[in-house]
Amino acid sequence: MDQQQLYKIMYISSASPNMSIEDLDRLLDKCRFKNAHFNITGYLLHHNGRFIQLLEGKKISVEYIYNTVKIDSRHNNLIELCAEPIDSRMFPHWEMGFQHLSEQQIAEISNAHQLFGNEMTSSDIDRLCRRARAFFEAFVRSVAVVHDYNQLRDVMLRV
Ligand SMILES: Cc1cc2nc3c(=O)[nH]c(=O)nc-3n(C[C@H](O)[C@H](O)[C@H](O)COP(=O)(O)O)c2cc1C
Repeated sequence: MDQQQLYKIMYISSASPNMSIEDLDRLLDKCRFKNAHFNITGYLLHHNGRFIQLLEGKKISVEYIYNTVKIDSRHNNLIELCAEPIDSRMFPHWEMGFQHLSEQQIAEISNAHQLFGNEMTSSDIDRLCRRARAFFEAFVRSVAVVHDYNQLRDVMLRV
């Protein structure tokens, strides 16, 4: 496959128990800086000690970043949900969006409950991939308002 092709990887993992909010802030700063450099976009979500992340960009860059993420000791039990070519980016404006998901969001967003549940195993990768796709599609609809707000703010700041 062409290494320049747009590609995405989604995974889920468990945060290390000793990870603090300050550690997370530092991590996000680093992510955004490096992702901007590699033209990677995506989203990291956290709920109850679990992460789900979508990384998108050129295949060669996504795989490079993912290989560093996989061996990061700030999380463990990483399960790859999906790795596949894409036609367009889901989060073109976010070097790495981040949100803590509330219980209410978990209840409302398709498949969130299963993906963040503790019974997750890598036994059925096709099903996990379908769930992860449906989850991010539902999530992106739920943040559409914020995207619009940011674009509006950018326009207003320019005039
Ligand atoms: C949950 C999680 C998500 C991460 N996501 C990214 C990411 O999107 N981009 C990135 O560059 N590093 C990410 N990292 C950090 C990398 O694992 C790694 O620490 C960092 O890229 C190392 O950069 P350096 O070798 O230049 O210091 C993530 C780490 C964790 C624990």
